[in-house]
Amino acid sequence: MQDYINDIDGVRGRKIVLGVSGGIAAYKAAELVRALKHLGADVHVALTEGGARFVSALTFQALSGNRVWTDLWDGKGDAGMAHIALGRGADAILVAPATADTLARLAQGRADDLLTTLCLARDCPLLVAPAMNRQMWEHPATQRNLATLAGDGVLVLGPATGEQACGEVGPGRMLEPEELADAMLAFFTPKLLAGRKVVLTAGPTFEAIDPVRGVTNPSSGKMGYALAAACARAGSAVALVSGPVALPTPAGVRRVDVASALQMRDEVLAALPDADVFIAVAAVADYRPATTSPHKIKKTGETMTVELVANPDILAEVAARPDAPFCVGFAAESQNLDDYAEGKRQAKRLPMLVGNLLADGLGGDDNTVVIYDAEGRHPLPRAPKGFVARQIVEHLARLLPQA
Ligand code: CTP
Repeated sequence: MQDYINDIDGVRGRKIVLGVSGGIAAYKAAELVRALKHLGADVHVALTEGGARFVSALTFQALSGNRVWTDLWDGKGDAGMAHIALGRGADAILVAPATADTLARLAQGRADDLLTTLCLARDCPLLVAPAMNRQMWEHPATQRNLATLAGDGVLVLGPATGEQACGEVGPGRMLEPEELADAMLAFFTPKLLAGRKVVLTAGPTFEAIDPVRGVTNPSSGKMGYALAAACARAGSAVALVSGPVALPTPAGVRRVDVASALQMRDEVLAALPDADVFIAVAAVADYRPATTSPHKIKKTGETMTVELVANPDILAEVAARPDAPFCVGFAAESQNLDDYAEGKRQAKRLPMLVGNLLADGLGGDDNTVVIYDAEGRHPLPRAPKGFVARQIVEHLARLLPQA
């Protein structure tokens, strides 16, 4: 997952024990170590005998920066007990890949190797990322084991459906390393928006002049996508109405693609029933061409005039509804941030508005913002957009009326 989406503090400093069992997806576990390290986790790998047949301990040691544990009888741990040393202080154990056999043994509470013993002796959450052939996944025994594990409070991540190493297509593929890292981030994020529904707009709008031309702006959509991801990680249902951007949809987010402001308005209104929060991050074009030519306009002379008409103000319209959700606006200004931003908050009758000075231009991965609400201004430190997004979510969760 891109830096701008990630909340860099969510996993930082957490001790995560990564159990790697013997499936071909073990090669992806190496990349997963990198992704978790990138988020600042302290990763300790417990490698099963089968796992070591696919990827060597040395690979995991080099990537994690920690010694790799393979043997239950390793005397180097505390009092000669590797499973105790490894599990001590762990914030979570993630088994990825979790083979059908590993899931079966975990479901039974077996403790016949280091990884299963560690899982049985743990006092932290256990997450598993299954990886196996489609038939093994669909077998009733595997499904029974998964139900047992879920009943024991184990969190099951995935699997994905797609092409498998054996050549078949179906469910059983391990989630990609970045998806798993993102799931760990979500796991550690406080569920401040649990049970809430959030609707967001993001990106630019595109107002067509003819089939090949239009009026738009260089908004990247990154801040809106980072916020959608942060809301999903905080436990809310998220509908993201997005203008044209080149960004992947964050995990747990329902995305509706639109082009023009009028389409964006229609989709926002369609998503609005039952919403608790509306966050307008999109850089909506203020004007659209009065008419759109159905055919490509040919050049005829030195000048061309395009008549523009005002677009509806989506945020103002939503905020003025009698059943308005909690509305959050954004304002990007090139000067007088405090005056303009607070002025817009009051003019649109918003309980909260996020302002940023356009000193960095549009499209960067970092942002410096000030939150405005009825109590005044609250500047946030310059940080990656994912981190800023989490702080915005925390602020809005504090202001949100109790459900
Ligand atoms: N907004 C909206 N619909 C519009 C215009 C803006 O929903 N047609 C939302 C934006 O998503 C953002 C806030 O309103 O949350 C920005 O308001 P505003 O500053 O009025 O938009 P600008 O077009 O930037 O205003 P101005 O050009 O006057 O600075």
